[in-house]
Amino acid sequence: MSDPYIFRPITFRSVTARNRIMVSPMCQYSATDGVPNDWHFQHLAARAVGGAGIVFAEMTNVEPRGRISAGCLGLWNDEQRDAFARIARFLKAQGAVAGIQLAHAGRKASTARPWEGGKPIPPEKGGWLAIAPSPIPFGEGYPVLVEMDEKTIAGTVAQFAAATRRAREAGFDVIELHGAHGYLISSFLSPITNRRNDRYGGSFENRIRFLLEVVDAVRSEWPEELPLFVRISCTDWMEKSWDIEASVKLAQVLKAGGKVDLIDCSSGGVDPRQKVNVYPGYQVPFAAAIRSRAGIATGAIGLINGPELAEQIVANGQADLIIMARGMLNDPYWPLHAAKTLKATIPWPVQYERGNIF
Ligand SMILES: Cc1cc2nc3c(=O)[nH]c(=O)nc-3n(C[C@H](O)[C@H](O)[C@H](O)COP(=O)(O)O)c2cc1C
Repeated sequence: MSDPYIFRPITFRSVTARNRIMVSPMCQYSATDGVPNDWHFQHLAARAVGGAGIVFAEMTNVEPRGRISAGCLGLWNDEQRDAFARIARFLKAQGAVAGIQLAHAGRKASTARPWEGGKPIPPEKGGWLAIAPSPIPFGEGYPVLVEMDEKTIAGTVAQFAAATRRAREAGFDVIELHGAHGYLISSFLSPITNRRNDRYGGSFENRIRFLLEVVDAVRSEWPEELPLFVRISCTDWMEKSWDIEASVKLAQVLKAGGKVDLIDCSSGGVDPRQKVNVYPGYQVPFAAAIRSRAGIATGAIGLINGPELAEQIVANGQADLIIMARGMLNDPYWPLHAAKTLKATIPWPVQYERGNIF
């Protein structure tokens, strides 16, 4: 049998991942003042040891009010950068590509940690005022929002550039922009959450402008030889809203711009009334459509937990990367175990070789 597809290396610009398996960014809600600590170190380190090709640090916010919760990570100061540097160094020493997802939570900021209920926290109860393209609260119980003026938009774009510089200084190999799930970039894209009348709202071209400005700002600080990924919600799962056609069109624009290397194809999170039919690989058709119609590399995410399903997706040309979140929480050594199932030979860490017995 030839090498399974998911264990074949893949190169983006100057960066080669040892296989096609990527650990999805996953918020741990465990930071103080946005600084990564031992919890983040072990979470990411274990998955690099487990054999993943690319390991992504969670949604890391470009300013304090861009955090979902007080426990979320940030990259707006040098203390955060230096703590990330230790993590990036270790991931790379284990043979993984070190990634960081840069983000701003926008209208979904200032909430309690999930295990503390996840509810919005208004400023008077210790939270903070959130910003958004239009002052439309995410759902019931969410506080009022500040509508971003052009100065705030320009300032936020500059914060993405500053965080990018620190990501480079920390030694990361790849950045992903979080343009999905109803957070700030996503809320500019969707007509449900963007009701602006200026050049950032209305037409498709206007709604994608903020993302394009962020991409340009990131690229101004991110070396040409390093890759940039963008995660989007390929559909809002709502009538007359952002959908796969808009996503393909956006991917075509990003491909033509030559600054983005991969679209990470997620969905939803924009409106709590969304109706999603979830099953293994349910978002794979989005990755396949964007890959074939925009001619850009894609990552497939969403209930891809079986090695055979992962293998089929890459072998069929539906996606270039398999991205996993919950399956990786369940088993940080998923790649080592999947290799057994698919009869691939991949090296175990030498220190753990005696555990390679099943
Ligand atoms: C604990 C947890 C934290 C998450 N944090 C993030 C995040 O920081 N950024 C992001 O884009 N998605 C985040 N997600 C969504 C996942 O990346 C992924 O898109 C989703 O869980 C579906 O993939 P899965 O079926 O492999 O879990 C998170 C998911 C989980 C379970």
